[in-house]
Amino acid sequence: MTIDFRDYRPLALAQMNREHEEFANLLNEAEQALLMGRAGLPYLRRVYEHCQQHFAQEERDMEYLRFPALASHRHEHQRILQQFADALAGYENSGDMTAVLEFLMDVIPDWFGRHMNDYDRALSQFLVQQEQKQDQKRAH
Ligand SMILES: [Fe+2]
Ligand SMILES: [Fe+2]
Repeated sequence: MTIDFRDYRPLALAQMNREHEEFANLLNEAEQALLMGRAGLPYLRRVYEHCQQHFAQEERDMEYLRFPALASHRHEHQRILQQFADALAGYENSGDMTAVLEFLMDVIPDWFGRHMNDYDRALSQFLVQQEQKQDQKRAH
């Protein structure tokens, strides 16, 4: 298993935890499929699409609430998506899964652990604070 989601300290936002858990599940499924020699592409595409959608949602939240670290957070998303796209294209074009397996088993789990603990943790705390401010305003 590439990622055991229970190893990670949860974030302040339940919705974000759910999406990250789904990501971990999709990643593990893709790894299993590739290692068992099944057609891995549909699994890989699902992980990729999940990342695209999840990143886009975080970026919409950051834009809407004018999150101060938006630019660097978005850059981190773009950087890993580009690496993912390259690994995927290499596999599609050559059928050689070396690069995509390395990406799946080393690069992205490593990135995910750091990104979640740093960027997403800060974002989730910010989102929770904004929600609390809204609640306070409504109460007054
Ligand atoms: Fe993020
Ligand atoms: Fe995230």
